[in-house]
Amino acid sequence: MLNQNNISTNTKILCIIGHPISHSMSPLMHNIALKDLKLDYVYIAFDVIPDNLKQALEGIKALNIRGINVTIPYKEKVIRYLDFLDPIAQKIGAVNTIKLKDGLFFGRNTDAEGAIQALSNSGINSSGLDVLLLGSGGAAKAVSYGLIQNINKLTILNRTEHKAKELADKLKKESRSQIDAKKLNETTLTNAIKEADLLINATPIGMYPSHHESIISRDMLHKDLAVFDLIYNPLETQLIKDAKTLGCKTLNGLDMLINQGALAFEWWTNKKPNTILMKKKVIETLSEK
Ligand SMILES: NC(=O)c1ccc[n+]([C@@H]2O[C@H](COP(=O)([O-])OP(=O)(O)OC[C@H]3O[C@@H](n4cnc5c(N)ncnc54)[C@H](OP(=O)(O)O)[C@@H]3O)[C@@H](O)[C@H]2O)c1
Repeated sequence: MLNQNNISTNTKILCIIGHPISHSMSPLMHNIALKDLKLDYVYIAFDVIPDNLKQALEGIKALNIRGINVTIPYKEKVIRYLDFLDPIAQKIGAVNTIKLKDGLFFGRNTDAEGAIQALSNSGINSSGLDVLLLGSGGAAKAVSYGLIQNINKLTILNRTEHKAKELADKLKKESRSQIDAKKLNETTLTNAIKEADLLINATPIGMYPSHHESIISRDMLHKDLAVFDLIYNPLETQLIKDAKTLGCKTLNGLDMLINQGALAFEWWTNKKPNTILMKKKVIETLSEK
């Protein structure tokens, strides 16, 4: 834990805003990395109710809070309050990291880069693959934007069909890859999974406390499939467990979480955090839960 005796009038503040926020691993992983580098910062979490988002951001500016992570449900809503938006975040349509500099908010998205780093470090080479993406929310947008230049085909299935189609239309402006979008149901899932090389779960199905659920039954998976489940709590979802029993390559959401956090940390502090330490802290905490 951070030694509160070291907090002084010089201590700079970093934070995360979201609602709810109690599940977030960000304070733990950032504070341990700040302490490791002996940086005079503290990272705290704010549970901001939807009616208060504007006032919360005004307060953050007034209090000169230097760095802000943004989580569900504000990654899209914060954009209107920013002074500058990184072009990639603009294309993704979601911001997970803000830096306050000279009284102005600069917004970025480190989820996309974090996810792509995690995939390539895991040995899953997405180049030329047929990818099946489940979900069309903030995480799906970031991951698909990161992947779209290199893959052969992307099929997006989502519970709300028009959101899948809107995402597909946006991605088509960025890439010549084949992009298809449909409503998520048993039939579309059965057909799409047969042709897929990489399955990405960007829905919360399988997340704690619904950790016995999976978005897809084991008998629909096949051994040549690589599976990337963006969920990190639990570290091994039912989907990952099922895929492992078939010998599939698998990746959970932990490395994406650490990578997006490390990119934000470096942007705020100009120092590279110890990602091994950050990861160890998150694993320890999730294992205790
Ligand atoms: N590892 C990481 O660093 C990281 C980062 C961000 C997110 N994530 C994980 O990614 C997942 C999605 O997060 P997000 O930020 O994209 O959330 P989000 O913006 O709320 O999007 C959620 C997506 O899941 C779909 N969905 C929700 N409940 C569903 C259900 N019961 N059945 C079918 N589809 C359902 C939604 O469909 P509709 O459009 O129909 O609502 C939407 O497409 C979460 O599990 C989150 O923990 C991980």
